[in-house]
Amino acid sequence: MEDRLISSSMREEDAKTEYSLRPHNLDSYIGQDAVKEHMRIYIEAAKNRGEPLDHALLYGPPGLGKTTLAGIIANEMDVSLRVTSGPAISHAGDLAALLTNLSPGDVLFIDEIHRLNANVEEVLYPAMEDFALDIIIGKGPSARSIRLDLPRFTLVGATTRMGMLTSPLRDRFGIKEQLELYSVEALTTIVTRSAEILRIAVDDEGAVEIASRARGTPRIANRLLRRVRDFAEVRAGGVIDLAAAQEGLSMLAIDELGLDAVDRRMLETMIVKFEGRPVGLDTIAAATGEDATTIEDVYEPYLLQLGFIARTPRGRIVMPAGYRHMNYVPRQEQTKLEV
Ligand code: ADE
Repeated sequence: MEDRLISSSMREEDAKTEYSLRPHNLDSYIGQDAVKEHMRIYIEAAKNRGEPLDHALLYGPPGLGKTTLAGIIANEMDVSLRVTSGPAISHAGDLAALLTNLSPGDVLFIDEIHRLNANVEEVLYPAMEDFALDIIIGKGPSARSIRLDLPRFTLVGATTRMGMLTSPLRDRFGIKEQLELYSVEALTTIVTRSAEILRIAVDDEGAVEIASRARGTPRIANRLLRRVRDFAEVRAGGVIDLAAAQEGLSMLAIDELGLDAVDRRMLETMIVKFEGRPVGLDTIAAATGEDATTIEDVYEPYLLQLGFIARTPRGRIVMPAGYRHMNYVPRQEQTKLEV
């Protein structure tokens, strides 16, 4: 059962390289300066007191390093990390099994914690608050509850959807940190670091080019780097310079800002099909054939950050910068024709 609960979302080979690129301590973790500084203090204070770290909730778009940070927390606290996810824990008993197998101080990382079902969440409350497991024995009038003590552990929860967490769960985290999209500078440093680990030569311009098209997301930067590495090794003498990066990336149909075919289809649909009027998320999803959750979690954050779209009470609209990027005259600047 343990194998089923401890999840790995990637194929083995990808998972291996992805893992090798992950920093293992706060000093080698690039970007997220505020989060890093906070965690440094909380970790040092907890260690000085000889206590486990308080439960921590990490939230933000996918690919920004929530799992990586959980690993770093465990490493810096000198304890083991157990990784699972909300959807993997379908029964209260699954969670009980995970909790009773922890050692004192261990970090239990639950990814997509907003997807825990209600029964499982109920078990989590006393576990987080009192380090106890309430077990019901028997059924009907003779049922009684016994309390099992758990080791003191740290729960690190990650979610892309702070709003979907129930408030009792949210309130039980002493530490809440929001991860933000990375700057191009930070991503350039990450690409350079990853290239060194992957033993591929990359010059500054090549690294900046990959970083600029990575949508503020290290996971994407590392994926683009691996694809450009393939290109450079086969077609460009094994060195990622500006030209190799540009050619490799254009093969992937990623434009100079990192927008892919789905981003462009979304913008085009909103501009042409809906003539720039506010459109609801589900309508965009239906019209583009994409999943609404994917649009909201994966595509929107970056388009919002670029100022290409905006959320209004009546729906999503394309902003002037979005029109220009798609080579349209902004609706906001279209004037009425004289008749
Ligand atoms: N690889 C992925 N994310 C990283 C980060 N924040 N710092 C260093 N390397 C990374």
